Amino acid sequence: MLALGDITAGYGETTVLREVSLWVPPASVVALLGANGAGKTTLLRVASGLCRPRSGTVRMDGADVTGHRPHVTARRGMCHIPEGRGVFPHLSVRENLAIHAAGGDADETVDRAVSAFPVLGSKLGQQAGALSGGQQQMLALSRAYLTDPCYVLLDEVSMGLAPVVVDEIFEFLTGLRRQGCALLLVEQYVTRALAVADYVYLLSRGRVEFAGEPGELDAEQLTARYLGTDHGN
Ligand SMILES: Nc1ncnc2c1ncn2[C@@H]1O[C@H](COP(=O)(O)OP(=O)(O)OP(=O)(O)O)[C@@H](O)[C@H]1O
Ligand SMILES: [Mg+2]
Repeated sequence: MLALGDITAGYGETTVLREVSLWVPPASVVALLGANGAGKTTLLRVASGLCRPRSGTVRMDGADVTGHRPHVTARRGMCHIPEGRGVFPHLSVRENLAIHAAGGDADETVDRAVSAFPVLGSKLGQQAGALSGGQQQMLALSRAYLTDPCYVLLDEVSMGLAPVVVDEIFEFLTGLRRQGCALLLVEQYVTRALAVADYVYLLSRGRVEFAGEPGELDAEQLTARYLGTDHGN
């Protein structure tokens, strides 16, 4: 279980999260929804250790990891896929993937990534920055497959991508979950997020406004009231 308890956090004088508690059970999908600026990214940053909370605790499988640096939470099985495309643009696709071999066999690591995202197979020699947005996101997401994490934090990974690419990404996420990963999913495509989620949290101005099962929420009402326009997916 990934457990955030009574998290208060912010930047400088600004308080962004106020006493937020959230649980991600093993092998579950938890959707974290909320309007722009609600604090979703900040919450993921607190969970992975990129942002130290002012108060509250972060626990992974019972161990207190509050304020532990990201490389420490990563070693314990946390994988944070940040907003934007998390790749090294000037390195080749192969070099980007080989980073995750962690001293093991780079070729095998590359093969595993290609098995998850076949399109990368024909691009291995290209600079990552020259890939399409969707291909770059697949390259970034490969990390969640290659490092065998327990908890994957996903920050708007389908942002700006064509529906067919979004489909492929959601299939990949479903596969991760089948393998036993738990996912904390921040997603602009509310309908898609609710379709895969076991639990949903609605964040409003830094507080949990709703926590429960997706079936308890009326998606249309949710969209109209809290999130502006859903982008039709
Ligand atoms: N590095 C920072 N320094 C100061 N304030 C920040 C910083 N990052 C975010 N904020 C502020 O914190 C608040 C919450 O931001 P956050 O990025 O967590 O929201 P979000 O829910 O992810 O929004 P979005 O849907 O737009 O991605 C916003 O008011 C934002 O301006
Ligand atoms: Mg955000």
